[in-house]
Amino acid sequence: MTDGRIVLVTGATDGIGLQTAVDLARTGARVVVHGRTSEKVDKALGVIEEAGGRAEGVAFDLGSLASVRQGAEELARRFPRLDVLVNNAGVFMNDRVLTEDGLETTFQVNHLAPFLLTNLLLRGPLAGPRARILNVSSIAHSRGRMHFEDLQLARGFNGYAAYAQSKLANILFTFELAERLPAEQVTANCLHPGVVSTKLLIDGFGMGGSDTAEEAAATSVFLATSPEVEGVTGRYFARQREVNPAPQALDVAARKRLWELSEQLSGLS
Ligand SMILES: NC(=O)c1ccc[n+]([C@@H]2O[C@H](COP(=O)([O-])OP(=O)(O)OC[C@H]3O[C@@H](n4cnc5c(N)ncnc54)[C@H](OP(=O)(O)O)[C@@H]3O)[C@@H](O)[C@H]2O)c1
Repeated sequence: MTDGRIVLVTGATDGIGLQTAVDLARTGARVVVHGRTSEKVDKALGVIEEAGGRAEGVAFDLGSLASVRQGAEELARRFPRLDVLVNNAGVFMNDRVLTEDGLETTFQVNHLAPFLLTNLLLRGPLAGPRARILNVSSIAHSRGRMHFEDLQLARGFNGYAAYAQSKLANILFTFELAERLPAEQVTANCLHPGVVSTKLLIDGFGMGGSDTAEEAAATSVFLATSPEVEGVTGRYFARQREVNPAPQALDVAARKRLWELSEQLSGLS
């Protein structure tokens, strides 16, 4: 992929996202660093500069649908074209906390906000041709199931169940997007980055990781930049290779149901 392509990375102020932004900037991409606040974004821009790269920033809260809409509008104004969107931001919540929209935070930040952001950007700068969408899922999806009868887990919250459900939703969303979008215009793929000692892993899972941040960023960098995956869509990757997701990620009815519910809950349609 040629230098100068514009790549937006969400949650690029920390952990795997920050490393992904640093490494993408080193490839010559024009990186747009997204974070929750402008203070955190500015700090990340400093890290990227120190590493010899250059990037621009945008701040909005994925825990607010209004903020996501404002962010999408700002991005469309500032960037007539986005070549790659890396939906990387994510949280692990130990407790059930509702957002200002009255939705469970894990579901909103990890699934609904990227669903809304992606669809809004597809109406403008991300329309292609040859645009790429990457959704950072997790191996944790294999322990997840969609609680369609209670997506917000109001009847019994468990942080791991909420997280695993949201990471399964990332894959279902990717596969449905891939079916809806002509591959020569926009491709959509998802990935497990690896297991890294970030604040999400340490605070959420209470454990350390076995991979480095560089190793974890490598699959996103590969999918964002490699000519090998030009036109490849609707696949799940780990360690820069296509792998099979768990069977529940291949449930076509579930992915259609999730899309419809997400349209309603995000107010997209
Ligand atoms: N670490 C692992 O082992 C692992 C394994 C598999 C998959 N993943 C996935 O990898 C992705 C990155 O995770 P990580 O481990 O690098 O986590 P991290 O270090 O905690 O970074 C998460 C990023 O998302 C941002 N974010 C969280 N909530 C947000 C909100 N409401 N609005 C805007 N930004 C928000 C964070 O911003 P703040 O700094 O402001 O919080 C941060 O920049 C996630 O999707 C995660 O599910 C991680």
